[in-house]
Order: sequence, then structure tokens, then C-alpha cells
Amino acid sequence: MNSLNIVILAAGKGTRMYSDKPKVLHHLAGKPLLQHVLDCASELQPQQICVVYGHGGEAVPQAMQGYPTQFVLQEPQLGTGHAVQQAMEHLDDGSRTLVLYGDVPLTQHATLHQMQQIQQASDGLVLLTVNLVNPTGYGRIVRDTEGDVQRIVEEKDATPEQREIGEVNTGILLAPTEALRSWLVKLQNNNAQHEYYLTDIVAMAVEQGIAIHTVQPAHTWEVEGINSKTQLARLERTWQQEQAVRLLEQGVTLADPMRIDIRGSLQCGHDVEIDIGCIFEGKVQLGDGVRVGAYSVLSNATIAQGTQIAPYSHIDGSAVGADCRIGPYARLRPGTVLANQVHIGNFVEVKNSEIAAGSKANHLSYLGDSTVGSRVNIGAGTITCNYDGANKHRTVIGDDVFIGSDTQLVAPVTVGRGATIGAGSTITRDTPEDALTLSRSKQQTVPGWQRPTKKK
Ligand code: UD1
Ligand code: MG
Repeated sequence: MNSLNIVILAAGKGTRMYSDKPKVLHHLAGKPLLQHVLDCASELQPQQICVVYGHGGEAVPQAMQGYPTQFVLQEPQLGTGHAVQQAMEHLDDGSRTLVLYGDVPLTQHATLHQMQQIQQASDGLVLLTVNLVNPTGYGRIVRDTEGDVQRIVEEKDATPEQREIGEVNTGILLAPTEALRSWLVKLQNNNAQHEYYLTDIVAMAVEQGIAIHTVQPAHTWEVEGINSKTQLARLERTWQQEQAVRLLEQGVTLADPMRIDIRGSLQCGHDVEIDIGCIFEGKVQLGDGVRVGAYSVLSNATIAQGTQIAPYSHIDGSAVGADCRIGPYARLRPGTVLANQVHIGNFVEVKNSEIAAGSKANHLSYLGDSTVGSRVNIGAGTITCNYDGANKHRTVIGDDVFIGSDTQLVAPVTVGRGATIGAGSTITRDTPEDALTLSRSKQQTVPGWQRPTKKK
């Protein structure tokens, strides 16, 4: 198989977004439009990816740092053909070139793979087309009486009869690189928009007797482009619904498939239940029997089987063991690792901490930079004072410890296994195992004391 180049057109302004941000950097399902295209492009394992950018200056290459991608500036923007011309010096002959649009985020791998296979078989030009009930605004695919593609005519250059054609150009195409190069140099801008149309290469290919094939995507949304916030919002909903249906078909229970947002990938085991309003970001895995309560936000998290997450919980960068109870209103921050049967209750925040099996922090606590043993009970209002104003320090709590309510553990500090800490203590030194330690002053009653009275 000869190698693949990919050119992504992303120089357009996006006037109708009414935004200072380049259009392709607006987000769909939690990531920039262009990143969707780049991720899909990378999956095809091309030799070269070339992004043609223009409006918004360096914002586009800056936002996409880290991608093995060539960025080419198109300035000024003289049309889609002119845009592809800018990339040609980075492409090698003997390969094929796939043209994608940076503002068409949801083209699926299967569709592009099909284009590749057809191109491979014929060494011709493959166009991705789609039939629309309302084709207004798009380039029309003009076929002869045999049904062979003759050319693409842009809306503004089309005759009234051609405007009746429902099959339109999506803009996505695959061509032998050498031929593409030879066609691009011949482009002219004597058309209604005075642009160099990439679409004019089709008539050139026909003239040379090169085979032209068309492929249609499985779903129309795969080729929908974004030009406005309305279109962006609509495509976001389409994509969310698509993912929700995919989950339902895998057996996941969704309280309402219209009220779930997946901004990344969500993997679910058997008998998972997700209540309304939940957001999943990055990579999230839910084990068998996991239940996620309403309005929870899970980002880059693994939740093992049987764990119940009550409503309004936020879990980020954390691994939660099996049969845990989280929330309502719990917050697990990055670096949290919970073993099995751990309970984290309302208004408890955990950060960069490991909590071993069967331990509980059920109310109003902060556990940061700590290592907590098994079967520990953390009383309400307990705080690990991990920050001295300059550095962070660790708190270590042994197995079977009982921490009384409203305790401050001033790190670095270790509470020995089996220890009990009296409520309201401020613990600044390590405490011995199996003993009661407390730091509060003795209770006293002041004889004769009276409440102040208001002065007249
Ligand atoms: C183009 C196609 C049309 C197709 C439609 C699908 C041409 C001449 N027409 O029309 O047949 O039906 O897309 O949406 O190709 N871009 C650049 N540099 C430029 C011009 C455009 O990078 O100089 C990029 C834009 O950012 C955009 C894409 O190319 O991502 C398409 O450009 P746009 O102006 O939207 O093309 P259309 O006129 O819609
Ligand atoms: Mg367009």
C-alpha cells in the first residue's frame, strides 16, 4: 500500500461564529473541532499531516502543539484549491493525499477507510458526497447520463437545473498526490467568487480519463461543517444523542438519553445506571453495577464494580475501588486512590491520597496528601493541614484509627495504627499506636460569669 498524506483545511475565518477565536478551536464534545479531525486523521496512520491555517494567526498551531503535524500558513486565503497548494511542498509523490476540513469534526474512521480502499483499487480520485433534501450552498455533483461524475459546480456558478441536484460535495476527497499536484497548478479563479476552487480538479481528472468514485458516509452528521454557534450546538446534541444510543445498545441504563454529556470516552460494564445531567470527560471507566447519581461530573476516572455514586459528586483524576459509596456532594481530586468499600460522604474533599479498604470519611472533611489505612474512621470536620504556606506535607494514618470530629492533623504527621484522637484536637506531633491522644484544653465552668447587657 503506498503511503498517505493528509491535508486539513483550517484557514477560514468563521465570520458567523462572532468570536475572536479561530473557528476550528471552538469545542465540540469537550475538544476543539480541529482536534477531532486530527485524532481521526492520526488513526489512519498517515506519513504526513499538514494543517493549513490562516485566520487567527498562531493560535491554531499553538493550540495543537504536540501533534506530529506540519502547519502551513495560507495568507491570503484565495480558496480551497489555493489552500491545498500551500501544503503541496510537504507532500511526497508516490503517495495519496486525503483532504479533510478542520470545521467538519465528526467524519468517522470507517468512512475514510472505505475511501482509502476504493482509491487503492482504482488509483483514481475518490469524492465523499452526500444526498441532501436541501442542498443550498453546497457544490453539486454533476453526473452524465451514464451516472459518471463529470464535475463539481459551486452553488454560485450553477445553472437553475444544476441547483436541483441533491447530491453535494462534502469537500473531503482522496487523490493520487502526483496527479493532484499537476491539477492544482492549472487552477484558475475565473468563477463567481474569484477563488481557486479545489473542486475544479474533478473536471481535469475526467478529461484525463482518470477514474472518479464517490463514497457516501453512513450518517449525514459525519460531513456537517460548523459555521455558526447554532450549527455547533446542533451538532453537539446530535453527537451526544449518538453516544447515548450507543450506550443504551450496550445495555447501559440512562435515566434520560437526552440528558447525558460525554466529552471523551466512556466505557461501561454490565448493569451500569446513569441518572440525569451527568458529564463524563476524558477517559472514564465504570465497572459492572456502578450507579452514577444525578448531576455528577466524572473526569478521567476509573470506578470499580458495585460502587454507588450519589448525586452532585465530582470525581477527577481518581481511581475508586469496588463497592464504595461516594457522595452526595463529594469531591475527589487528582491523585485520589480509593480501595474497596471506602465511604466518602457529603462535602468531603480528597486530593492526592490513598485510602485503604473499608475506611470512612462521611462528613465535611479535607484529606489532602495523605495515606490512610484500612478500617479508619475520619470524624466529621477533620482536616489534614497539608500546606504550611510554602510546601505540602503528608499525613499518614495507620489501620483501625479513629479520628474524632473536628480534628486538625498538621502535616507532616503520623497517627499510629489503632490510635484514637479525641474530638477537636490539633495534632502536631506523631501519635502512638493503640492510645488515646487529644490536645484540647479541659472543660471548665466559670463561676459567677454573666452575659453582657446592652448599654442604655
Ligand atoms: C466548499 C466546496 C463545496 C462544498 C463545501 C462543503 C470548494 C470550491 N467548494 O465550499 O463544493 O460543497 O465546501 O462544505 O471547494 N478554506 C481554507 N482556505 C481558503 C478557503 C477555505 O482553508 O482559502 C477552508 C475553510 O476554512 C473550510 C473549508 O476550507 O474549512 C471550506 O471552505 P468554505 O469557504 O466553507 O467552502 P465552501 O464555499 O463552503
Ligand atoms: Mg463551508
